[in-house]
Amino acid sequence: SGFPASLKNGLSKLGIPNEILNVLFSWVVGNQDYPKIPEAKGALNAIRNEPFFIPLYELYLTYGGIFRLTFGPKSFLIVSDPSIAKHILKDNSKFYSKGILAEILDFVMGKGLIPADGEIWRVRRRAIVPALHQKYVAAMVNLFGQASDRLCQKLDAAASDGEDVEMESLFSRLTLDIIGRAVFNYEFDSLTNDTGIVEAVYTVLREAEDRSVAPIPTWEIPIWKDISPRQKKVNAALKLVNETLDSLIDICKRLVEQEDLQFHEEYMNDEDPSILHFLLASGDDVSSKQLRDDLMTMLIAGHETSAAVLTWTFYILSQEPGAMAKLQNEVDSVIGDRYPTIEDMKKLKYTTRVINESLRLYPQPPVLIRRSLEKDVLGKYPIRSGEDIFISVWSLHRSPHLWDEAEKFNPERWPLDGPNPNETNQNFCYLPFGGGPRKCVGDMFATFETVVAVAMLVRRFDFQIAVGAPPVKMTTGATIHTTEGLKMTVTRRTKPLIVPTLEMPALNTSGSMG
Ligand code: HEM
Repeated sequence: SGFPASLKNGLSKLGIPNEILNVLFSWVVGNQDYPKIPEAKGALNAIRNEPFFIPLYELYLTYGGIFRLTFGPKSFLIVSDPSIAKHILKDNSKFYSKGILAEILDFVMGKGLIPADGEIWRVRRRAIVPALHQKYVAAMVNLFGQASDRLCQKLDAAASDGEDVEMESLFSRLTLDIIGRAVFNYEFDSLTNDTGIVEAVYTVLREAEDRSVAPIPTWEIPIWKDISPRQKKVNAALKLVNETLDSLIDICKRLVEQEDLQFHEEYMNDEDPSILHFLLASGDDVSSKQLRDDLMTMLIAGHETSAAVLTWTFYILSQEPGAMAKLQNEVDSVIGDRYPTIEDMKKLKYTTRVINESLRLYPQPPVLIRRSLEKDVLGKYPIRSGEDIFISVWSLHRSPHLWDEAEKFNPERWPLDGPNPNETNQNFCYLPFGGGPRKCVGDMFATFETVVAVAMLVRRFDFQIAVGAPPVKMTTGATIHTTEGLKMTVTRRTKPLIVPTLEMPALNTSGSMG
């Protein structure tokens, strides 16, 4: 079916109406002996002006756990069924690639771990996962505390001045500062200043997000792609970020050469605990380009996702005073007046459930993308190779068939003393970090990061939607953003606790606030 499909695609691009093409090509696609996937037709108009996962959810309620959606020459399978999701992500994951996602992200991530498939992915995954060992994560908890503390100082100043704050952009800066240190030991310091490199990172990120929702790939148009001012800006930003990463790799290589290191499973350099340092110290035999692609991938993967989780968690909390009070109580009693430590992560049970539940209601990203590499059977339906598939995590997470009061924020839907919810113990109804071999490598990192940030912030401040703030609505790039920011009024809960100095204490796991 590859040739007819591309022929049809080509004819459609020439402007031949799809209805005619469908009739012409129906004979090639085959007869109707097997059950045919329900087809959602004419539902496209709904897609304007709304984040696309909302109409997908409506269509799921009408057409069920798998249906086909056709846009002109393109057709997608939309999956919102936990057992089909499990089949694609886990049981038969070898039959699926990242498809469109890899195409869209190629300009920035190259063959990095998120878009890569096959042998490259296998080798890189095996190299990178060990870098996120227990001791590393413990050191990171300390880093999360320090970075969150800098955000607290900013909020403290705003509270003094009686100024409202736009939390979404602050969270984006917080998580950028964290991921820079965590992945390649670089201090973006974006909470404090706007350097060229910070702006370049945002330009690249915005481009990646715009491309993932753009109806027409203008960046592929010959000549235009070289002369459009926008593409020029993107190319310049990409060049700056790439050069910065290359020089960080060089610096780190020299450090590792000078180091008298004994590499072992939990190897970590205390001055530079970054993933990059681990990879180089491990003797990871890889080209600089591949290493750069992986660093860029982790920078992007670990930045906007965590920021979005924090944004939506604070939005939810502003609507749920009861949950906020409970959260503040727990935080007061567990961490009191100090930085959280890795041991505290087990004790901040309600805080963890708040994050788990925030990720259920606002999954980041709201859909997972795959392409079939072989013929397969999904549920009772045979599919061709080359099918583009969206697994709608949003629909799974909000399905009235899978959850009690699915729309309700209820952190205690999972008992506080029970295991943390994950895709396995929730039978693929809950996929905040994906599942199967391509599951997020940063799941624990990200959970602790958001738990620490929430704990530090709610311990010191109360948060309310600012008077006169624009309504908080959703829009999508790769993650769910607000349309006009999350403007909040921040008030101190008590008189300032010990005000820590601006200097960064050395990274350690003692967790004392100095
Ligand atoms: C993959 C979510 C933070 C690194 C994924 C996937 C999801 C996800 C859903 C699976 C994508 C797919 O199957 O197509 C999240 C969320 C985060 C987060 C919600 C924050 C709350 C991070 C962080 C890092 C990271 C902090 C890095 C330290 C990665 C990588 C992959 C990935 C490298 C690709 C893994 C592979 O394909 O083998 N993430 N992530 N993520 N994530 Fe995360």
